[in-house]
Amino acid sequence: MLEIKNLSYFSNENNPDKEILNDINLTLKKNKTYVITGPNGSGKSTLAKLIMGILQPTNGSIIFNEKDITTYSINERAKLGISYAFQTPVTFKGIKIKDILNIASGTQNDFGQICDILSKVGLCAKDYINRPLDNTLSGGELKRIEIAMTLCRKSILNIFDEPEAGIDLWSFDNLIDIFKSLKSCTNIIVSHQKKILDLSDYIIVLKNGKIEKFGKKDEVIPFLENKNCARLVRSI
Ligand SMILES: Nc1ncnc2c1ncn2[C@@H]1O[C@H](COP(=O)(O)OP(=O)(O)O)[C@@H](O)[C@H]1O
Ligand SMILES: [Mg+2]
Repeated sequence: MLEIKNLSYFSNENNPDKEILNDINLTLKKNKTYVITGPNGSGKSTLAKLIMGILQPTNGSIIFNEKDITTYSINERAKLGISYAFQTPVTFKGIKIKDILNIASGTQNDFGQICDILSKVGLCAKDYINRPLDNTLSGGELKRIEIAMTLCRKSILNIFDEPEAGIDLWSFDNLIDIFKSLKSCTNIIVSHQKKILDLSDYIIVLKNGKIEKFGKKDEVIPFLENKNCARLVRSI
């Protein structure tokens, strides 16, 4: 469903032609969950942003359901059924939580529907429905609302960048249940968490902008453990 061919990204913002991702090749199958893991700065978020179209590659192409989407905008990719939850969620001044969930759903939800959506991410609707989506919300609350938005979009390819960041222990188990409920979609989850690695089908290990290892979970988890990467697969 997703083919990534010879994908490279060089940044020239601060450091001229800094190589951030180099010649990434991957084929992702429909309805499978892929976890991208690897040390800080290895290029995980960059790869996720290139797939969503938030960044444009220096070289290479991205094929989604046999369509070359390399030059497509974020909106065009969203219309094809790709969604993205940021590592650091975005806030929108003046927009209430219920509005953003309605926008994500593309329809007006009633109180009961919003309540169902928010309860999936461990939030009580009556406390949040009319709150503005601004920085009075904690990092963990914003993260949960962003995950709720992803659920509303009902996309066929969901990309989550470190969804566990800022999420407390109780919500973390909720989060695991959410990913299990998304098994009929294709999911790409950037994560270091053992419980999230455990629910994947395949794991992509990035190192210095290259694929260090790609394979089935049962093959890659022992590889990570053997490398003494306990910090990569720490449990929460
Ligand atoms: N716009 C940019 N300009 C310069 N360097 C960048 C830019 N974006 C990311 N980087 C660098 O690229 C590397 C990969 O970043 P990132 O994809 O965010 O890593 P990860 O998500 O694996 O921690 C890091 O060294 C980061 O500092
Ligand atoms: Mg990152």
